[in-house]
Amino acid sequence: MTRRKLVAGNWKMHGVSADLTEVTSIALAAETADADVALCLPATLIERAVRAAPGFAIGGQDVHQNEKGAHTGCISAAMLLDAGARLTIVGHSERREAQGESDADVKAKAEAALAAGLSVILCVGESDAIREAGKAVETVAAQLDASLPGSVAEASRFSVAYEPIWAIGTGKVPSTADIDEMHTALRARLVAAFGDAGSEVRILYGGSVKASNAVEIFAVPDVDGALVGGASLKATDFLPIVEAAS
Ligand code: G3P
Repeated sequence: MTRRKLVAGNWKMHGVSADLTEVTSIALAAETADADVALCLPATLIERAVRAAPGFAIGGQDVHQNEKGAHTGCISAAMLLDAGARLTIVGHSERREAQGESDADVKAKAEAALAAGLSVILCVGESDAIREAGKAVETVAAQLDASLPGSVAEASRFSVAYEPIWAIGTGKVPSTADIDEMHTALRARLVAAFGDAGSEVRILYGGSVKASNAVEIFAVPDVDGALVGGASLKATDFLPIVEAAS
């Protein structure tokens, strides 16, 4: 099974109008890249980024599971689509922790986004305490099982991102053997859940991905791309990672 790699940037709470030049530089290079490329931006920038870089995949960083209603500060899938977004992240560890999102919430968000027509990147990952206790694989596999949408009609619109919490923004990265072990386990869970479609779902790695480690990480068989935080903010940092995936 050959899966085209996906390199997605997650700008988190970074970015104002002046940073749209980074989006347009990345979008231009993405036109000729041999990998799918996307940027998940703060909601305030999505519509302007879509106008500045038509044809390029812009996404959100979260979505509410309901279509509309009294949910102050939240954004629905229809709103993301209306702004021109094509994808959204769900279940990032920063939201699971700071906003108390449960696996059930993440599942509902993924299902709402997919049903609306968005692509989804669903994040899972373990804490350092869980890794130290030797329970990373069983914990993350269980987290995935509980967060997965009920079905994926189009596997190309659904990706999983394995992001060990202790590797996010720290410069620490698991060994390629540990990444391999985790991605192999997650692949097995996806196939158990979705059958053949489970082997088409892309599994991204996230956590301190940089130009200097991307080639090695992308060489792991079940690594189908990356979800990149800090190194996605500048085209000069991000594009070498895209190049490594091509
Ligand atoms: O979602 C991407 C992220 O959490 C990884 O962040 O800065 O370690 O690449 P960073």
